[in-house]
Amino acid sequence: MASSGQPRTQWLGRWGFMLAATGSAVGLGNIWKFPYITGEYGGGAFVLVYLACILAVGVPVMMTEIAFGRRGRGSPIDAIRRVVNESGRSSAWSLIGWMAMLCGFMILSFYVVVAGWSFSYLWKMLTGGLAGSSVDDMAAVFGANNANPFILGGWSTLVAVLTMVIVGKGVQEGIEKNVSWMMPGLVLMLILLIIFGVFSGGFGEAVSFLFSFNAGSLSSEGMLAALGHAFFTLSLASGAILTYGSYLPKGASIGRTTISVAIADTVVALMAGLAIFPVIFANGMNPGEGPGLIFMSLPLAFQAMPMGTLFGILFFLMLSMAALTSSISMVEATVSWLCDNKGMTRKSASWATGIVLWLISTLAMLSFNLGADWTLAGKNFFDWLDYLTSRWMMPLGGLGTVVLAGFVLKSETFRDELGLAPLPYTLWLTMVRYVSPLGILVIFADALGLYQVSFAVHWPWLLAILLVMVAVGETLSPRLRQALRSR
Ligand code: PFF
Repeated sequence: MASSGQPRTQWLGRWGFMLAATGSAVGLGNIWKFPYITGEYGGGAFVLVYLACILAVGVPVMMTEIAFGRRGRGSPIDAIRRVVNESGRSSAWSLIGWMAMLCGFMILSFYVVVAGWSFSYLWKMLTGGLAGSSVDDMAAVFGANNANPFILGGWSTLVAVLTMVIVGKGVQEGIEKNVSWMMPGLVLMLILLIIFGVFSGGFGEAVSFLFSFNAGSLSSEGMLAALGHAFFTLSLASGAILTYGSYLPKGASIGRTTISVAIADTVVALMAGLAIFPVIFANGMNPGEGPGLIFMSLPLAFQAMPMGTLFGILFFLMLSMAALTSSISMVEATVSWLCDNKGMTRKSASWATGIVLWLISTLAMLSFNLGADWTLAGKNFFDWLDYLTSRWMMPLGGLGTVVLAGFVLKSETFRDELGLAPLPYTLWLTMVRYVSPLGILVIFADALGLYQVSFAVHWPWLLAILLVMVAVGETLSPRLRQALRSR
């Protein structure tokens, strides 16, 4: 049973939660994925939809998760169970916590492989292993790196070990201490890289690519990618934010903290775009290169520029640190659950988690070499982990979380925990009851191939559905008006 008798650890410093949650949010999703999907889906219009998704779905879900964590003071499973029990509801809702914990673990199993790429490129840059490579060489280097399971496995093992060492040291001594220097360091490196970008000759083009709005380039697929990415980039429904929230002191404002984390995450993603695209454009490369953008195009581009190796080193160092501050957050839920429920010390819980992680991530790593043919329905193991978590588990977990908070629990619980004034509280409630669920249902409809949504075309329908949802919801349980009158 959870050790409810003992007071729960809390972040030591005023910035502890902010830095750790931002560290979790800012990762490969911002620096590797955001630039390449922005490139694939056409730039500015995609960025705008992404920002809307962060505001309408990401922020409300994140607030809800932090509130669950702080109220329930435990891992996702224990915290959700305590909060639902407080409202006299069934413990079965803690299944959402189980799924979140599993989801964080599954993401980490493929995340360490990509983080391993980053560490290996850092090493190549440091040792001059890429000097003089041509476009074809670069693709060959990327291929060779992946083809050898010992090399690829070695790098992903290194990431897994570093993650578990940090987590094993504890919330304050391990996580908080390390994010406290890694996050400022990361921002500093990013600023230096942007300055490099300004002088690269491609800065203007990069700015107009990222910020000029061209509605014509808005595809329905791009919009779904934006919504899915909002979950991933804010580390939602994976146990990370909820568990970090369980260490948040009572007095901290959940609304303000969430908005700061969401802004920091978005600013870093945009800054990453401003660091990467100028270099790509200055060298006449294609921004829509896909997943290989920062591993193949970018090192090549850096090489062609004065002081490029130095900035290349800086770039991969920054990427590796960003990955590490995220990976530690993905196992914290599991480690905290093991400590609370199985009486394990943090060290043994971390190593036990690390061994299982290593086994699964090895299977994910093999998808790039020996196991490339082990496919099911056209997807290898790595693809399945990515697909199941981003298309299904995160949206499903997000939906469960908002439905639970918006409809199932007693209204006092979250009013209390969030401590918002009537108007912002009503706004939050509208989002978790109607707007976020609708957005998530749209992702499912697409994943099931039921309906291809294009907001540009279908927005009147979506608005009508939203209004019907509000009318039905508020007739059955009129909480919005009550919320407005609540204080
Ligand atoms: N937010 C991280 C990124 O953008 O790279 C990924 C992530 C971290 C997802 C933690 C889930 C999680 F629990």
